[in-house]
Amino acid sequence: RLGGSRVSGVKIVVLTGAGISAESGLATFRGAGGLWEGHRVEEVATPEAFARNPGLVHRFYNERRRRLLEVEPNEGHRALVQLEAEHGGEVVTVTQNIDDLHERAGSRHLMHMHGELLKSRCVACDETAECPEDLGLDSICPRCEAIGTLRPHIVWFGEMPFFLEAIEHHLQSAGLFLAVGTSGRVYPAAGFVQIAKNFGARTVEVNLETTGAGEIFDESREGPAGEVLPSLVQAILRGDA
Ligand code: OAD
Repeated sequence: RLGGSRVSGVKIVVLTGAGISAESGLATFRGAGGLWEGHRVEEVATPEAFARNPGLVHRFYNERRRRLLEVEPNEGHRALVQLEAEHGGEVVTVTQNIDDLHERAGSRHLMHMHGELLKSRCVACDETAECPEDLGLDSICPRCEAIGTLRPHIVWFGEMPFFLEAIEHHLQSAGLFLAVGTSGRVYPAAGFVQIAKNFGARTVEVNLETTGAGEIFDESREGPAGEVLPSLVQAILRGDA
């Protein structure tokens, strides 16, 4: 049981991972075979990979971006929007996902700690810009007009995630921490549950299967996020999970 009186009105921090977007048709990172769309993650998601072969990295993310424009948010994303709208306390969604499905569903208090696929960043002038189209070696920065300086606005392995200070602050004042569709393999996000727990939050995991981090959570709910989250959110809102 979540315990109605324990969660009514408290701050809720939700950490989402690739699993919440799986039912929309986007591939998770550590699927069967350990490959992400046929690539080792390190092959396409590091600054070294981009320095070595920027064309490959651009092509890879261009494909992901095109695919993203074909898919829609699912019931899991929508359940979190309802939670944010109807819970009596603050709800903060921290996502490791680079897709925009949370915001398309209607989430408002949202932090993309690993960046956003639909944005570019200029390595010369640091400007970030909306980027719904392909990037390439001949792309031009909309601000400084340099050629070939745009990269995906994505946090790669070895780079610092965004918003860590604000996230840590929220974790320390959370009454409920909910991890949805994340394998708990990539730090610092994988450590958030422990921080929230240390500061007194109740911790709940929603995943297709119990992850290695399972024992840190007070409760694990197994199943697809699109099915588990709507009923979990109803239970939180009723205060009788
Ligand atoms: P992973 O691919 O590591 O894990 C996805 C998790 O979602 C697994 O634990 C699955 O069991 C679970 N899952 C799959 N389908 C699900 C469903 N329908 N409902 C609920 N759970 C489901 O993805 P992340 O944990 O998000 O970082 O990966 C973390 C980071 O590693 C990513 O943000 C990315 C990657 O490298 C960067 O690119 C910086």
